[in-house]
This record gives sequence, C-alpha cells and structure tokens, in this order.
Amino acid sequence: MRDKWASLFPLFAAIIPQFVIGQEIHVPPNSVLESLRDLAVLDPNGPFRNSSQRFEPTANITLKPPYFQIFDEKFLEILGPTPSVRVIVENDTFAFAHEAPMWLPGTDEVFFNGGKTVGRPVSKIDLGDLKNSPTGLINFTILPLGPDIQITNGGTIFKGDLLLVTTGLGQLPPSIVRVNPRPPFNDTVLLNNFYGRQFNSLNDIKIHPVTRAIFFTDVTYGFINGFRPKPLLPNQVYRFDPDTGEIQVVADGFVQPNGIAFSLDGQTAYIADTGASGAVSDPTLPGTIYAFDVMRGSQSFTNRRVFAYADTGVPDGLTLDTHGNVYAGCGDGTQVFSPTGRLLGKVFIGASSANMVFAGPGRLLIMADTKILLANIAAEGMDLNL
Ligand SMILES: *[C@@H]1O[C@H](CO)[C@@H](O)[C@H](O)[C@H]1NC(C)=O
Ligand SMILES: *[C@@H]1O[C@H](CO)[C@@H](O)[C@H](O)[C@H]1NC(C)=O
Ligand SMILES: *[C@@H]1O[C@H](CO)[C@@H](O)[C@H](O)[C@H]1NC(C)=O
Ligand SMILES: *[C@@H]1O[C@H](CO)[C@@H](O)[C@H](O)[C@H]1NC(C)=O
Ligand SMILES: *[C@@H]1O[C@H](CO)[C@@H](O)[C@H](O)[C@H]1NC(C)=O
Repeated sequence: MRDKWASLFPLFAAIIPQFVIGQEIHVPPNSVLESLRDLAVLDPNGPFRNSSQRFEPTANITLKPPYFQIFDEKFLEILGPTPSVRVIVENDTFAFAHEAPMWLPGTDEVFFNGGKTVGRPVSKIDLGDLKNSPTGLINFTILPLGPDIQITNGGTIFKGDLLLVTTGLGQLPPSIVRVNPRPPFNDTVLLNNFYGRQFNSLNDIKIHPVTRAIFFTDVTYGFINGFRPKPLLPNQVYRFDPDTGEIQVVADGFVQPNGIAFSLDGQTAYIADTGASGAVSDPTLPGTIYAFDVMRGSQSFTNRRVFAYADTGVPDGLTLDTHGNVYAGCGDGTQVFSPTGRLLGKVFIGASSANMVFAGPGRLLIMADTKILLANIAAEGMDLNL
C-alpha cells in the first residue's frame, strides 16, 4: 500500500503528514485507493471495456458498491476521515428518483422527479424521518401537482419555491414552472416559448449566483423518445430574466446540452453534453463537461473549453461544493472533479446516476432511479437556495 501511495502521490506524505501513521497510510473506510500508474498499461490481451461497463481498476477488490474510489489525494479532504454511503430510499417497482434533486433547508426536505419517459412524478422525502427509522430507510411521497406539470426533467430552488423544467408532451410546450413546495402545490408557468417557437425538450436549470437570472438547457430527447414533434431550434443554452421576460441564447454548438452549473463567483459556467447518449449510444459523440467564462453584462458564455470527459457513461446533472469541485452524475455514480478538471474520485454505486444534490454540510444525496443514496462526507455544497 505504501508503494502505491509513493508512486501515485510522491508529495503526499510531505503535504499531509498526519495521514502517515508509522509506515501505514490511512485510507478511509468504504474506500479504495486506485493506482493510475497500474492502470496505464493493461494486458494487451485484455480484457478492455466499453464506455457503458462499470470499472473497478483494483483487482480482486472485496468492497461491494456503494463505496468510494480515490483517484487523487485531494479526494481525502472531500471524504473526511469516516465517510459512509448507503441507500436511504428504495422502491424497485419504478424509477422514482431520476433527476431534479432540490433541497429545501427550512424543512430539510429533498424533492426530485422520476425518470424514463412516462409519468415522471415529482416526489419528496423528509430527511428528518431518518431519525425515526429503525431500518435506516425512509419513504417518499408523490406530490399532487396540477396539469401544467407534464414531463419534468430538471429543477432547482428559486426564492423558496421549486423551479422545474418540463420537456413538453406531444404538442404541449416545454416550460419553466414555479411550484409551491407546500400544499396546495399551486404553480405558475414562467416561460414556454422562444419568441413564439416551442423549445425542443427542456432539460436542466440553474440560477446564476450573482445576477439571479435563470439559465437552462434544451435537448432533443423528447423527439428521440417519440413524445415530442420534430425539433424547431438548435440544442442551446438560454438565459431568462423572469422580471422583464427577456430571453437570450448564451451558448450553442452542442450535441445534447444537459446538466448546468455555475462556479461560486458566477464567473464560470459548466455544461454537460450527453451527446453520446441518444436513441442508440454513440461513444464517438461527447460525454463531456465544458467550461465557459460568463461575460459581464450579456452573461453570454465565452471561451469554451473541455473541462472533463466521463470515463463511464455520460455526465448528466452537475453541482459544485464550496471549494469549487465539480460533481457529475455519471454511468457509475457520482464523479468528482477538481476545479481544473482532474478526476479526484467517485462515489461508486455500480449503477448509473443522473443527478445529485447536497443537503447541507456533509450530506450528498445521489439519485439512482430506484434508489436514493446518502453519502456522509466532509464536503459542503455551494448555496443553491437562490
Ligand atoms: C459493452 O459491453 C458489455 C459487455 O460485453 C455489453 O453487454 C454491452 O452491450 C456493451 N455496450 C456497448 C454500448 O457496446
Ligand atoms: C486476483 O485473483 C486471481 C484469481 O484468484 C489471481 O490469479 C490474481 O493473481 C489476483 N490478482 C491480484 C492482483 O491479487
Ligand atoms: C413502490 O411504489 C409503488 C408505486 O407508487 C407503491 O405502490 C408501492 O407501495 C411502493 N413500495 C414500497 C415498498 O414503498
Ligand atoms: C414506509 O411505508 C411503509 C408502508 O406504508 C411503512 O410500513 C413504513 O413504516 C414506512 N416507513 C417509514 C420510515 O415511515
Ligand atoms: C400559490 O398561491 C399563493 C396564494 O395565491 C400565491 O401567493 C403564490 O404566489 C402561488 N405560488 C406559485 C408558485 O404559483
């Protein structure tokens, strides 16, 4: 183990001496230290893998998912000394927890929506229920939302309410809808067109942390999945000012612009392109997070560059911690990248996760369709209650 550390992180012992106890290195529980050097050359006779196969680089590992994969020493600071990850909600009968995870600090509730093509109810859990659950499992409740809410996809908190994007359904337009998170769960549609034209299938949404404008992405998954007409617009990223109604394209040139996030200072935008995932998956298309500078004034995105490419599946939902590390929902769980795009580690759940959300310091909730997992780690999410 020591040799592994020494080869992987020659400066490690010098930087964090408290992790070195005698000759031993402290690897936290439920974690494995992955050696990039061992990985660099594989047996030419294989086996190799394709992008949809999960990947555990360490041979003969005894840990069973979910657990943490450490690719870089910086991940130790994110995990803290005693990280844990476990399932807190499950229902194998349908994909109730796909996307749009939203945490309301006042009530400690987490809202989210179901996945796949039909239904997609919006549900919630109350994290306070964990205290009274002898099994460690809690139940979710489906919200009785009105007819404005067709097929939802992304969501974020906006002035204490839920802000959802819908993908549209048949001729019904995609929309941005503000929803009261408390009974009677009434809603207000804020936007459902671009100068009269319908969007394709709105996918995800975030509030800019400084200007408080609404930014959202548009993809063609509704058409690809057969529940939306032929697209009328390029797949783009938009900015919307709910006070003036002003709507503007801020970035284009994507295959499927999906997850969106901003840095803490609002000067950098991140967009995940899930182009590789379509009617048939095509690994030659992007599974890539791009970074941009957000221009002052117009808030257009400029200076596009590759931030990170996911090694498994495609990066979908994005969120940041208070240190600017970027968390992406990927084909094998939550992947965590440094502010410069280095893969630091993974919450490896051995299954696909489209999205995740921090629920206060040290709690990361991971949406895994038929399950929600809670990772107790050291990191804290940036404030999304805007
Ligand atoms: C990847 O490999 C697995 C195992 O061989 C196979 O089941 C799966 O269909 C492959 N996926 C793609 C996209 O080729
Ligand atoms: C893993 O297990 C196999 C089968 O027991 C063994 O041949 C191989 O040497 C082991 N690999 C390592 C790295 O321990
Ligand atoms: C799972 O969800 C279905 C559909 O809402 C519900 O009928 C069933 O009771 C749930 N099962 C559990 C164990 O919660
Ligand atoms: C969840 O719902 C089931 C079925 O209604 C019930 O038996 C169980 O006690 C509930 N669990 C919690 C933690 O409320
Ligand atoms: C819900 O209804 C209340 C009472 O009419 C109103 O003040 C509030 O703005 C509504 N919320 C939304 C999101 O439409």
